[in-house]
Amino acid sequence: TGSARDFLPERLSLPTLRSAAAGCHGCPLYRNATQTVFGAGPSSARLILVGEQPGNDEDIAGAPFVGPAGRVLDQALEQAGIARDDAYVTNVVKHFKWERRGSRRLHKKPSAREIGACLPWLEQEIELIRPQVLVCLGATAAQALLGRTFRVTTMRGQLIANDRVPHVLATVHPSSILRQPTSADRRAEMAKFTADLEVVAGVLN
Ligand code: URA
Ligand code: SF4
Repeated sequence: TGSARDFLPERLSLPTLRSAAAGCHGCPLYRNATQTVFGAGPSSARLILVGEQPGNDEDIAGAPFVGPAGRVLDQALEQAGIARDDAYVTNVVKHFKWERRGSRRLHKKPSAREIGACLPWLEQEIELIRPQVLVCLGATAAQALLGRTFRVTTMRGQLIANDRVPHVLATVHPSSILRQPTSADRRAEMAKFTADLEVVAGVLN
């Protein structure tokens, strides 16, 4: 079976990676998606934010975290005093995986095989940017980068030393805040998410 590794360009830079990823057939997910959603942000970024995979809006726009989850992320970053434009924002899996529910396309969790197939893109993004801090947004990113036994619930908000990046911090996925049943729950989860990002701001400043 294939992987993104078969599609890596010979000369590695963010622009060559991005254009190579646009033609990636490393797993079957490209078939039902509109386009590859590669990472976005400056190559000089000191912070990388890693989500799971593009959602419906990202699949259409071709950019990461531009939909409802992206708005939650933007708000929390602003409250934590982090400029999103200075960060590099990306996902573990670069194509939108979905199933039809009436007229809607519902997000489906990527499989371990799809995550493994796509990981070479993220590994190269990290290698080229060499950030000071990497934030895993949710369990998919945390387990892909920190191991399958990693638990966000017990380790969130803690700075973790890592062989790839000086500091890694895992927190919840912003869409988990949108799924909270009441506005009081959403407010409480948003405060915790923002507090985790304030830890990140402390390392960056
Ligand atoms: N959720 C993600 O994990 N990534 C996006 O880019 C959008 C929603
Ligand atoms: Fe390639 Fe990743 Fe898309 Fe699969 S999800 S086709 S590995 S870019």
